[in-house]
Amino acid sequence: MDIKVKNLKKQYGNKIILDIEELNLTSGKIYGIIGPNGAGKSTLLKIISGLEEPTEGKVYIDGERLDDLKMKHITYSNQKPYLYRTTVFNNVSYPLKFRKMNKENINSTVNDILHEFKIEHIKDNQAISLSGGETQKVALARALVFDPKCLLLDEPTANIDPDYVEIIEKAVIDRNKKNNSTVLIITHNISQARRICDEIIFLNNGKIVEVGNMKEIFLNSNSNIIRKFLDIEYCALEKL
Ligand SMILES: Nc1ncnc2c1ncn2[C@@H]1O[C@H](COP(=O)(O)OP(=O)(O)OP(=O)(O)O)[C@@H](O)[C@H]1O
Ligand SMILES: [Mg+2]
Repeated sequence: MDIKVKNLKKQYGNKIILDIEELNLTSGKIYGIIGPNGAGKSTLLKIISGLEEPTEGKVYIDGERLDDLKMKHITYSNQKPYLYRTTVFNNVSYPLKFRKMNKENINSTVNDILHEFKIEHIKDNQAISLSGGETQKVALARALVFDPKCLLLDEPTANIDPDYVEIIEKAVIDRNKKNNSTVLIITHNISQARRICDEIIFLNNGKIVEVGNMKEIFLNSNSNIIRKFLDIEYCALEKL
């Protein structure tokens, strides 16, 4: 799916949270959104997914406004993952039931993704009993189970063990390749962005500072804001 954001503004009270003249995202690419806390990253994702209305401006999916049919091909995972008050299996099967898949296919598709995400052992557990990391894994399995054409992922690996992050990254890359899906992923993890993203969108104070490939952003950016942000991130790593 191609996504176009045009003259977008989001305001809470007097405060302008987002102010984006234009942003174009192309099918088949993985985009990373990076920027400081409060930059407007989550708000942008919520607006593209249709969960939040912009104050001004529009989002176009494949040249048209978002409708129920298009929404069925878009997945969104929240920065604060939430699950329905039922079992892990029921949570992950929900998007397939909603899309009217038959019971046999639902069982095999859900079991496949539970296996891929290494969470089969908790499939009958109640969501409410899960740890924070387990909750995030189940929420992501639910987000990816229906082979979406557009993946909007808000800090999907924030609560996840380092040795498990690879499984999530591989799952995202596989869907991107298999379905030529557009992926928009918010991350604070620069190494993750380097590993999986084709392009980076750097957001600060609700504005796009720069859009570019890894080299342009990480090595050659002229923006002081970006250089400072990256320096802080790298210093934190070097201190270890
Ligand atoms: N419903 C709301 N009402 C009022 N202000 C809001 C609302 N939602 C977000 N904001 C404000 O908008 C700004 C951007 O929030 P947003 O969650 O998009 O930031 P973010 O870039 O995702 O930050 P973080 O890295 O901390 O997740 C913040 O200052 C936040 O307090
Ligand atoms: Mg956020």
